[in-house]
Amino acid sequence: MIQLQSGPVEVGGVTLRNHLILAAGVLGTCGSSLARMLREGAGAVVSKSIGPEPRSGHAGPCLVVLEDGVLNAMGLPNPSSDFRGELDQLKGEPVIVSIFGGNPDEFGTVASWFVDSAAAFELNVSCPHASGYGAQIGTNPDLVEACTAAVSRFHKPVWVKLTPNVTDITTVGIAAQDGGANALVAINTVKAMRISPEIRKPVLGNRFGGLSGKAIFPIAVRCVYELYGACEIPVIGCGGVSSAADVLELMMAGASAVEIGSALRGNPGLFREITGNLYGTDGISPAEIVGCAHD
Ligand code: FUM
Repeated sequence: MIQLQSGPVEVGGVTLRNHLILAAGVLGTCGSSLARMLREGAGAVVSKSIGPEPRSGHAGPCLVVLEDGVLNAMGLPNPSSDFRGELDQLKGEPVIVSIFGGNPDEFGTVASWFVDSAAAFELNVSCPHASGYGAQIGTNPDLVEACTAAVSRFHKPVWVKLTPNVTDITTVGIAAQDGGANALVAINTVKAMRISPEIRKPVLGNRFGGLSGKAIFPIAVRCVYELYGACEIPVIGCGGVSSAADVLELMMAGASAVEIGSALRGNPGLFREITGNLYGTDGISPAEIVGCAHD
């Protein structure tokens, strides 16, 4: 397998310790778990999404493990502005704060709480199961541009995490870019549902949820490939990554860095495992790999 040169890398206005980033929503609800993922070898970490009001989330069941993925409908549970205290122990670390809101003003308000503690913001315009938030913003290019502009005015790097649940993801990527985004993150979960034959009812309390894990990896590859071809800003791949080979494949599609989420379930040492396989003393320059499948 190809190996890469190791070392810090600058992506979307943030200096990452390596190409691997903890994805939002997984092990990112408190400062100590974010710090642990950095110790375990993550090049940067993204927090759980924080919104304008505290939320307890959807009624359970909120998460169901499937054969090749995870179906969740957490419902954006978060402590809102109280999350600030969690970041005290992470000063100077590459911590990206994921934020959401129902309109540009709410995005701006939430961002204002973290201007001094975030290395960057990741805008969640892509959660597929929270009424008034997430993909309800992220399927409307005008709103995506306005919400991105509302956060860009803080002069911190802004990453925008996109939903695959659209006909043309490049239209939304270009809208984020026009709003001042420094990078695009593709993809959030795929809207999905399962029904239990035993109880003859949906398995999730919210009925619909978002599918992550191995099952969505080919969708992530396709979306990264399309965005790399259409946009000028860096693309960060996300969705079903569980090995160094997956990381390289997303980089070949056009990803400058890669987020990892569901695969960490039950394997918190995964960052160390992947970096051990991804980097080598005779490794090639990452620039040779990023987007090479387009040539
Ligand atoms: O419900 C949740 O907290 C999930 C968020 C997301 O998919 O972005």
